[in-house]
Amino acid sequence: MEIRNICCIGAGYVGGPTMAVIAQKCPKVKVTVVDINEKRIKQWNNPDVEKIPIYEPGLSEIVKEARGRNLFFSTDVDKAIDEADMIFISVNTPTKTYGIGKGMAADLKWIELCARQIAEVSKTDKIVIEKSTLPVRTAAALRDILDSTGNGVKYQILSNPEFLAEGTAVEDLRNPDRVLIGGNIDTEEGREAMEALVNIYASWVPREKILTTNVWSSELSKLTANAFLAQRVSSINAMSELCEKTGADINEVSKAIGMDSRIGPKFLKASVGFGGSCFQKDILNLVYIARTFNLKEVADYWEQVILMNDHQKRRFAANMVQTMYNTVAGKKIAILGWAFKKDTNDTRESAAIYVADYLLNEQAEIVVYDPKVTEEQVYSDLDYLGSRSGDANRQAVTVVDSPYEACEDAHAIAVLTEWDEFKELDWQKLYDQMLKPAFLFDGRRLLEPKTKKDIGFEFYAIGN
Ligand code: NAD
Ligand code: UDX
Repeated sequence: MEIRNICCIGAGYVGGPTMAVIAQKCPKVKVTVVDINEKRIKQWNNPDVEKIPIYEPGLSEIVKEARGRNLFFSTDVDKAIDEADMIFISVNTPTKTYGIGKGMAADLKWIELCARQIAEVSKTDKIVIEKSTLPVRTAAALRDILDSTGNGVKYQILSNPEFLAEGTAVEDLRNPDRVLIGGNIDTEEGREAMEALVNIYASWVPREKILTTNVWSSELSKLTANAFLAQRVSSINAMSELCEKTGADINEVSKAIGMDSRIGPKFLKASVGFGGSCFQKDILNLVYIARTFNLKEVADYWEQVILMNDHQKRRFAANMVQTMYNTVAGKKIAILGWAFKKDTNDTRESAAIYVADYLLNEQAEIVVYDPKVTEEQVYSDLDYLGSRSGDANRQAVTVVDSPYEACEDAHAIAVLTEWDEFKELDWQKLYDQMLKPAFLFDGRRLLEPKTKKDIGFEFYAIGN
């Protein structure tokens, strides 16, 4: 089966970059990315490719090459579904904020809407692909909805979870560790659909890296991968607290254990806590699923990863207050970095939001500098927490365009995102502008301690 027309529902952090790379690597396939968010689609179509809604290194170049050729962004969801042979569903699946499973389960209302729309609009057979991260067995619900119209259209449902990490999305998509495709291996049509998707990826991914499994394994592998990755961060962060009490240094510990080939060196960087749209939501979802099957020990085991992460963010902020003579009321604190990691403008679940909120509760004045995050986003993140009114947030928090402006007359600096540019700042100049003693809290182990201490900073770093 040759695929000529792909539709992707959801033009977000996954849909946008993934489809851009497919369009680039498969120039004969027409790829249309659709979204109900008109503003987002307008941004994707901005003639100035530097103004597309998602910042990822290398992404604007690909969009420049493929947009208008075989890559299109549109709000006409029905038309794109109708024309497509293959439909990726790449909509958001956040933690539920209401009803049963509130605060734990994945909210599948957008997934279900997509399935209903596909069922309503389709006149020809389609391969429908779960690209969003979903609870195991969601494909069964999709099957029910898609088949409910009884209009004779046949659907093959595949699971093809996305493993890209933000900040390295383009590189991860171009050169993935593996591509996972789950489908129905027991039927001829199921195998054909899997082969069609394998062929798309095989345009640039070596076949041996394309793994095919049954649908449930594929769905569950995505939740498992994120749980394991986040677990490593919580494990190293737990050790960072012990390091601070004992004189051990977490970077040295990470290096020492990472050289064991069974452990491996990656994802062992202590931090102020993991953020991002995936880890917390996917683990909460996993915990919820385990609870629904009455697997108490399994649920409690994975929940601890989240509890440790919450503790890490809180203890970082608490340590700042304690170090600054137990009060930050009325003190200006500069936060360098608001994104949840470097090289992205995404702030979802960023540790910076929670650290700022803690400090605001202690009546600090906060000034934020991040090279890619807008002022509007910072306020929206704080407003979303609901800890205080929007006006109160705007009164206590300022967002500036320069790190030097952020640090003027500040009592303290907190480095909360590991942007490379922070390493190259003129730290002497920053120090000179600050009130003394000048406190510097490194939540990322980004800065070289000795030079900062030599300048005169009261320097504190996670895990040291
Ligand atoms: P996102 O919020 O950036 O994008 C989702 C988009 O879907 C939004 O623009 C929204 O308007 C759109 N949408 C929702 N319902 C729609 C509908 N019915 N019709 C058309 N458009 C609709 O989300 P994201 O970060 O791209 O994540 C998407 C999925 O991929 C999630 O399940 C997530 O868990 C998973 N995932 C994300 C990442 C990541 O790094 N962000 C990585 C791997 C997997
Ligand atoms: C994650 C998964 O890595 C990716 O495979 C999945 O598809 C989506 O979720 P992402 O959240 O984009 O990707 O970024 P990731 O690099 O995993 O970082 C997540 C958080 O953990 C960030 O806040 C990062 O700073 C933090 N982290 C990561 C650490 O604190 N220490 C580490 O060693 C690694």
